[in-house]
Amino acid sequence: MKQEFVTIHSLKYLTKEIIELSFISEYLSVNAQPGQFINIRVDTNFPLLRRPFSIFNVEGDLISIIFNVIGTGTKVLSQKKIGEIIDVVGPCGNSFLSFIEGNYTTAAFVGGGIGVAPFPFVTKKIESKKKSVTFLGGRHKDLIVKNGLHHPKVSTDDGSEGFHGTVLDLIKKDFSENNYGTVRFFVCGPTRMMKAVSEYAHEIGAECYASLETDMACGIGLCQGCNIESIGGEKKFRLVCKEGTIFNTRTVKL
Ligand SMILES: Cc1cc2nc3c(=O)[nH]c(=O)nc-3n(C[C@H](O)[C@H](O)[C@H](O)COP(=O)(O)OP(=O)(O)OC[C@H]3O[C@@H](n4cnc5c(N)ncnc54)[C@H](O)[C@@H]3O)c2cc1C
Ligand code: FES
Repeated sequence: MKQEFVTIHSLKYLTKEIIELSFISEYLSVNAQPGQFINIRVDTNFPLLRRPFSIFNVEGDLISIIFNVIGTGTKVLSQKKIGEIIDVVGPCGNSFLSFIEGNYTTAAFVGGGIGVAPFPFVTKKIESKKKSVTFLGGRHKDLIVKNGLHHPKVSTDDGSEGFHGTVLDLIKKDFSENNYGTVRFFVCGPTRMMKAVSEYAHEIGAECYASLETDMACGIGLCQGCNIESIGGEKKFRLVCKEGTIFNTRTVKL
């Protein structure tokens, strides 16, 4: 992991609400693994704290992230211009690749809203190794990003795209119609959604790995600000930024 000052290469809307920002980093292109995140200081003055973003794609020396504007940091980021410099620390956290190997048939990726962010990079890295199926859920169609994914199955809460309902309802319907053999779930998105998918996974005897998004201050294991309660094991709490962000959901309290 290291700090770099990188140049913005492109900034474009993938949907009405979701922006893709790419920048050049030879270091990250060699060292980043799918599921890891970068910590961006969006401005030299304010906000002071870095904001974490999953690595969405790596194409040659180009690294990209996606985000929607929800507060100060993402607003500042959305107003950047091509050629501007941003201060980035990464790659941070663990990778989905550590949990892909195993005795199961199909990897089921589940992205809720902007939680789709790590999956294009993940699927690209594992496509020759494992069979996979991808489910995306969002409140409405402008929160669905399918770029870089192979025929994802889509649900929206308002029915504006794909299945009308929650992503878990879509998964249950799809699983009743298809035989995926033994499945391992990989999820990223709102905690409520990850908890529901994890409970379903355990009901059907599958393992579930979730990428958690707690609030973070330092992002590198120093401030203890991203604690999550653990289940079993020796430690009462785990640090999401350093020991995660990806955990087997049997080991942490969602
Ligand atoms: C490991 C990790 C990876 C992430 N990857 C991405 C990504 O790829 N794309 C992306 O868009 N976001 C991602 N996030 C979330 C992103 O970091 C936050 O959206 C961002 O910090 C918000 O910054 P802000 O300054 O715009 O909002 P703030 O001004 O800090 O917050 C504005 C409001 O939004 C609330 N808020 C802040 N963060 C979140 C959140 N994560 N979920 C719900 N409400 C929140 C705050 O409580 C506040 O009410 C990730 C977070 C983590 C921890
Ligand atoms: S954010 Fe500081 S320890 Fe995790």
